[in-house]
Amino acid sequence: MRLQIQDVYAGYGRLEVLHGVSVGVEPGSIAAVVGANGAGKTTLLRTVSGLLRASSGTVALGDRDVTRLDAESIAAAGLAHVPENRLVFPSLTVADNLTLGAWTRRRDKSALAQRRAQVVEYFPRLAERLGQPAGTLSGGEQQMLAVGRGLMARPSVLILDEPSLGLAPRVIREIFATLARLRSDEGLAILLVEQNVRAAFKIADRAYVMDRGSVLMEGEPTALLDDERVQQAYLGGGYVRVPPEPAEDGVPDCSPGTQATGADHRSETSRTTPGRLRADPARSRPPGR
Ligand SMILES: Nc1ncnc2c1ncn2[C@@H]1O[C@H](COP(=O)(O)OP(=O)(O)O)[C@@H](O)[C@H]1O
Ligand SMILES: [Mg+2]
Repeated sequence: MRLQIQDVYAGYGRLEVLHGVSVGVEPGSIAAVVGANGAGKTTLLRTVSGLLRASSGTVALGDRDVTRLDAESIAAAGLAHVPENRLVFPSLTVADNLTLGAWTRRRDKSALAQRRAQVVEYFPRLAERLGQPAGTLSGGEQQMLAVGRGLMARPSVLILDEPSLGLAPRVIREIFATLARLRSDEGLAILLVEQNVRAAFKIADRAYVMDRGSVLMEGEPTALLDDERVQQAYLGGGYVRVPPEPAEDGVPDCSPGTQATGADHRSETSRTTPGRLRADPARSRPPGR
């Protein structure tokens, strides 16, 4: 099922945070929305899932306009929201946390058990820990549980708020590989909000850059990574540009064939593409917040 967010305005009281945001996600695809802290990514997801009401614009799941529905009805229409900070119930077991994801279908015990088996197949680490309190899981496992809980209701659209936050690169790869698998195996439309630009753009089919409540750019992830303006968008918001390493003679390597095009000789900026965006620890949130 397609997710279409069209010209959405939303905010908190009189504070308008989203100023006309449009984002589309096809079934069987992943769209990544990146942007610095405070860009409005969480607000966008909360508006999609009905936790916040758009003041104008529309959110549609397939052919259905869900803009005015409450969160429960939007979930019933096929949307699962995996919120930031992987909110699991620490004293409940992994199995019970999963069951809560399909609360409205809890009476059909066999369907529930069957779905749980499928979900832990996507996250085998959870299979070994079903009887364990969720609070004893590692951060990565808790994130897997949060995603797994979202999957329990068999959604068509999955929206995730910074699932990589505070996790080690190896765990991030594991979780993102599962998202890619869900895209193909379940045909999910996945909207992935991230500050980890590289990891997100690696698996995304479509990419959006948000800045101060608006979509600044939209396109193919690889094309956006090559765009100087993408880096500019991060300079002001928690990202710094790493200067190019000097060559052995102390002069930065600007030779053709690195990444400089030659045409405009933007050697320095074009050398700061993908791998050179990194969070500035002094300005970004501490891990595990
Ligand atoms: N509950 C809230 N009440 C008032 N303002 C909020 C609230 N949540 C977020 N904001 C403001 O909305 C803006 C966007 O925040 P948010 O959507 O959380 O951004 P992001 O997820 O991209 O970091 C920020 O300026 C933030 O201060
Ligand atoms: Mg956020």
